[in-house]
Amino acid sequence: MRTRVDEIAGDIFRISTFNPDFGIQFNQFLVRDEQPFLMHTGMRRMFAATLGGVRQVIDPARLGWIGFSHFEPDECGALNDWLAVAPAAQALGGVVGCAVMLNDFADRPPRALAHGEVLAIGTHRLRFLATPHLPHGWDAGFFFEETTRTLFCSDLVFQPGDPEPLTRADPIPGVRASILAGQAGPLAHDIPYTPHTDAALRSLAALAPETLAIMHGASYQGNGAKVLRDLADVLRETIGPR
Ligand SMILES: [Fe+2]
Ligand SMILES: [Fe+2]
Repeated sequence: MRTRVDEIAGDIFRISTFNPDFGIQFNQFLVRDEQPFLMHTGMRRMFAATLGGVRQVIDPARLGWIGFSHFEPDECGALNDWLAVAPAAQALGGVVGCAVMLNDFADRPPRALAHGEVLAIGTHRLRFLATPHLPHGWDAGFFFEETTRTLFCSDLVFQPGDPEPLTRADPIPGVRASILAGQAGPLAHDIPYTPHTDAALRSLAALAPETLAIMHGASYQGNGAKVLRDLADVLRETIGPR
């Protein structure tokens, strides 16, 4: 496995490891600031690769905060490995994530964020939005970095393969094709369509993100609101109520 590190917005670094066993990238994002923030820990078994990527940007012991969208191994499997190498770091989660998952799982107590709460980490500001079951998981939520207008998209805007770090090309045609292909495969139903799906996506679009930091695929720079509204339309068309 190889890991590459690219700055995709001001002091926001994409740490990308392509895993050929899955045929997809696992992308972590590091916000370099007074209290550095790591978005997703990566899988426990990929910890050495992710740690090496972070080390290219900062001393990992300086990490201040660790956030992720929902409780799954690629999002937070290596959380306790990070807490061990970064003595001041604290996990961040929503109220549900902390109550149901992190208060037990994390080796040190997490900090719970309310829906809409903003955390300043230096010059960057992270807003947390709770979005139960989007992309999946009761505890799901999103972080938005307000100064660079970067939305950490977790599993939304999924693209297979090993694409470039950052693109301005519209990702939606490829995303639609991969949703349709996925619905016919053994890993179908990764995103549930709930009464809240459309409204949650449109509330993310209302943030007017300029960079979409995508966990599996190329990050996107441009009209992020349009991409998210188009994604809402594609989800309604492909997996919405019949
Ligand atoms: Fe996931
Ligand atoms: Fe993921």
